[in-house]
Amino acid sequence: MANACGVDFGTSNSTVGWARPGQPALLALEDGKATLPSVVFFNADEEEVRYGRAALADYLEGYEGRLMRSLKSLLGTSLMDGQTEVAGRALPFRQLLGHFIGEVKRRAERQAGREFGSAVFGRPVFFVDDDPAADRLAEDTLAEIARSVGFREIGFQYEPIAAAFDYESRIDVEELVLIADIGGGTSDFSLVRLGPQRMARPERRDDLLANGGVHIGGTDFDKYLSLASVMPLLGYGSTLVSGAAIPSSYYFNLATWHTINQAYTRKSIAQLAELARDAAEPDKIKRLRRLIDERAGHWLAMRVEEAKIALSDTPEVALALDRLDPPELLRVTRAGFADAIGGLVDQVGATVRRLLADAGVAPERVDTVFFTGGSSGVAALRERIAASVPQARRVEGDLFGSIGAGLALDAARRFG
Ligand SMILES: Nc1ncnc2c1ncn2[C@@H]1O[C@H](COP(=O)(O)OP(=O)(O)OP(=O)(O)O)[C@@H](O)[C@H]1O
Ligand SMILES: [Mg+2]
Repeated sequence: MANACGVDFGTSNSTVGWARPGQPALLALEDGKATLPSVVFFNADEEEVRYGRAALADYLEGYEGRLMRSLKSLLGTSLMDGQTEVAGRALPFRQLLGHFIGEVKRRAERQAGREFGSAVFGRPVFFVDDDPAADRLAEDTLAEIARSVGFREIGFQYEPIAAAFDYESRIDVEELVLIADIGGGTSDFSLVRLGPQRMARPERRDDLLANGGVHIGGTDFDKYLSLASVMPLLGYGSTLVSGAAIPSSYYFNLATWHTINQAYTRKSIAQLAELARDAAEPDKIKRLRRLIDERAGHWLAMRVEEAKIALSDTPEVALALDRLDPPELLRVTRAGFADAIGGLVDQVGATVRRLLADAGVAPERVDTVFFTGGSSGVAALRERIAASVPQARRVEGDLFGSIGAGLALDAARRFG
């Protein structure tokens, strides 16, 4: 049995893996499930902090309080040194992440019946695009937070490499594999040579042909779907009577998981009240103000996310926006969604092409493309990635568990 665990702190979901012979690697973190949604709710009515599905349920039941999602997206940004207001008190974002990661540790330890002093944390290939200093800072910050909650020895592994270790434990011939991990915050890729004989080698540098990634994931798809379909109902793209555009910042904040609470600041609310007087389409702004009054921004983002997920299985969904005033039943199509995220899909496609070029590998030589991460369900994106390695067989891993399972193997190798 390994002494250390692997922690996949995800933008949307977190898992903990622990390598034990003959047993599944993932520890149950909530209600027997391996994933703990990366969500915190400060329930002001009950003066309690809730995590995961329980946090989402409290928020949707209408408890007063503050909901936080997409915490990982704060790493490497200037927001990280800031704070948010919870029950009239300032809460630094660092502490907020500490609350969540500490809870993940406690739950894993309770389940394992032992303490974990050492851990390998997954990390995206880039926390921050095109800024090595900010990227370094993001990893350092995560390490500091991990230490502050009691991990003494901390290692990092690229998330797609962790997924590669998981896949490798299940194959019996050697393959050249493109690992595609499309999560909530980032799309990460590794081109790796995998095989049962290679697995035991201590040094794998030669097997890792290239890593690549871009800060685009499911939360961005939610955002662009929201801006394209829902936000116009609330006045996005409309004007003032003077003809000037309504500032888009309200809509961007509301459509972006980790900035929704910024729409609730006193300053933002006061500015919006001012704007409402001069709006050319006051009914839409009224709807927007009502939504903000009711702190229903996360509810709206959740409805959009549900519609997006449904579009992976069906070409069209009816999105019931029953908490809008007046309510609305909005038709959302897969084609419309594909249009809304077209630019993002292009960027991810370019990332894969660059990675193959960096590795000096002809696309036709890739044997397998291995998909993991919840957003690999997005049809347009999956097709684009698969098309960039035309001869490759497509394999789907455990969409939410491959990284945690691979990190468990890595932790066992590194820390014993
Ligand atoms: N069937 C589906 N189709 C499309 N998207 C989906 C589906 N299921 C889940 N998602 C999206 O997948 C994302 C979560 O995936 P995952 O749990 O792999 O991310 P994560 O590991 O938390 O994020 P990251 O690795 O980027 O930090 C969310 O944005 C969610 O909306
Ligand atoms: Mg992930």
